[in-house]
Amino acid sequence: MANSKSKTQTSKLQKLVPVLLNWFSANARDLPWRKTRDPYAIWVSEIMLQQTQVKTVMPYWERWMKELPTIESVAKASPDKIHKLWEGLGYYTRVRNLQKAAQQIVEICRRRGNESQIKNGKKSETPHVVSYKFPKTFEEVLALPGIGRYTAGAICSIAFNQPTPILDGNVIRVLTRIFGIETNPKEKETNQLLWNFAEQLVSRAKSAKDSKEQKNSSRPSREINSCSFLNQSLMELGALICTPRNPQCNICPVKKHCVAFKENRIEELPNLGKRTAVTARHFIAFVVERNGKFLVRQRPAGIVNAHLWEFPNFEINGSKLLPQELFQKQFAIEATQLQPLHTVKHSITRYRITLQAFHAQAQKNSKRFEGKWLLPSEFDSLAFTAAHKKLASFAANCMLSRS
Ligand code: ADE
Repeated sequence: MANSKSKTQTSKLQKLVPVLLNWFSANARDLPWRKTRDPYAIWVSEIMLQQTQVKTVMPYWERWMKELPTIESVAKASPDKIHKLWEGLGYYTRVRNLQKAAQQIVEICRRRGNESQIKNGKKSETPHVVSYKFPKTFEEVLALPGIGRYTAGAICSIAFNQPTPILDGNVIRVLTRIFGIETNPKEKETNQLLWNFAEQLVSRAKSAKDSKEQKNSSRPSREINSCSFLNQSLMELGALICTPRNPQCNICPVKKHCVAFKENRIEELPNLGKRTAVTARHFIAFVVERNGKFLVRQRPAGIVNAHLWEFPNFEINGSKLLPQELFQKQFAIEATQLQPLHTVKHSITRYRITLQAFHAQAQKNSKRFEGKWLLPSEFDSLAFTAAHKKLASFAANCMLSRS
């Protein structure tokens, strides 16, 4: 019985491969990182695409590649520069890890370059140029900071056409629906089963031959890119057709093979268990003004949004302190002309943040005014956290209309 089930699944996997490849060839979106096989460019796109939508990523990726076109340029860039280029994408650990990984690659290449220069115990006289190459094996890629199994699989398949599987939220949705998997994909056994399906699909793509003529010769050959295209077809199907809500089953290329479609269980799958409860958080911020300049601070290392800038602010969940009292407590002076300025609402992961901002004049000095004093026109030069970026834009417009 088990044997016949596994035979059916094998035959289904076999059938899915050409269907997915054909569909992707005809329907792939024209995304900028799809025009290159440069592993560095693909790596940057995959890191940006973690937790972030394609349409948001596109201008960030273009700007990043223009400003930092090589691994070496990332390794050498200042923290301010990489944070500014990432400003608004969120999850800033990603960009710090990207830089750490670039520095590791440069270091490894330099060491290898030096080793190959030293012949017979003597350093060669001829100067040489070290080329900073992105590693080519799955294990080396996986060992880099910020790269997990999904990202390593995506880079190796897309850049090098290796049969390395991928499994993220989109792919989980596609596979659980096609195979009618009812258990929670976060459970170990189910997760392994899904990786196994993803692996079988991409391995079969490696050996699949494209018997049809390439219809459009300007596109890269599907035979050469079969692993890359197979993995991207799963991502693309999850993004365009097999969406969480209102999937477009009527135009889905795999509906004939999809258990959830046949059994009318699309809405039930994947079974993601209970959602984590949403938590409300309330902050008070002070936009403190002195001689037309405003006080901003940099968040320290080791906390969320480290290295980014913000206005002085305090979490007040449940506290009954009035803004005047809070100001006095924090800056050890009385607030003068404290006025409500703006309220920003911002959602991040499970948090619903309310940031209530007050404008204050700093007529007296305080030792506790630590940070930088900026003109509104200078706000754009620093990378702010998302909520404070909204506040900075509001404050800058307000100050402009005042003058
Ligand atoms: N999501 C994750 N990686 C992607 C890619 N390479 N193209 C489109 N969407 C993606």
